[in-house]
Amino acid sequence: MEAYEQQRKTLEGTIEAMARVVETRDPYTAGHQRRAAQLGCAIAERMEIPEEEVAGIQMAGFIHDLGKLRVPADILTNPGRLSDHELGIIKTHPQVAYDILKDIDFTWPLADIVFQHHERFDGSGYPQGLAGEDILIEARILGVADVVEAMASHRPYRPALGIETALDEISSHKGTRYAPEPAEACLEVFADGRFSFES
Ligand SMILES: [Fe+2]
Repeated sequence: MEAYEQQRKTLEGTIEAMARVVETRDPYTAGHQRRAAQLGCAIAERMEIPEEEVAGIQMAGFIHDLGKLRVPADILTNPGRLSDHELGIIKTHPQVAYDILKDIDFTWPLADIVFQHHERFDGSGYPQGLAGEDILIEARILGVADVVEAMASHRPYRPALGIETALDEISSHKGTRYAPEPAEACLEVFADGRFSFES
């Protein structure tokens, strides 16, 4: 095996190990990161973005909620409504992950993608309130995939809303909350009928 390939395998293994660490604390993150990564890649491929960037979306997807490590487990698994204070703690997770990842020399801009996955195209997201193309394309794509997976799945505070509701959210806010091309590509991925989430 070539040195490059070997290095890449090691990197992927490290990222998967990090993913497993978050998932041991929050059973609802388990599977969510992997499935969001899977959908993010399908959207990216549909948009025909370069293969290397698709790989970056996959890796960032696997660990996008890494910062939840710093969120107390009882907040993550709270079945009730969260207070503003608790929501504020959850909203620190992109920054926490950024701080963990920023000095690691990955092939892809993983720290920034993860940092930006809750930014919204119209500037209504967090933590920086970035808008439009100031948000990395990888983060614009992962943001859509994250919302769809989260809405389609069961959460401690609500049953699954289902894929139809998730896709309604994307089509009603295409071009506002969600960047137009990733939103459109996401709708096409499902309209195609060939995509389904891994279990
Ligand atoms: Fe997140």
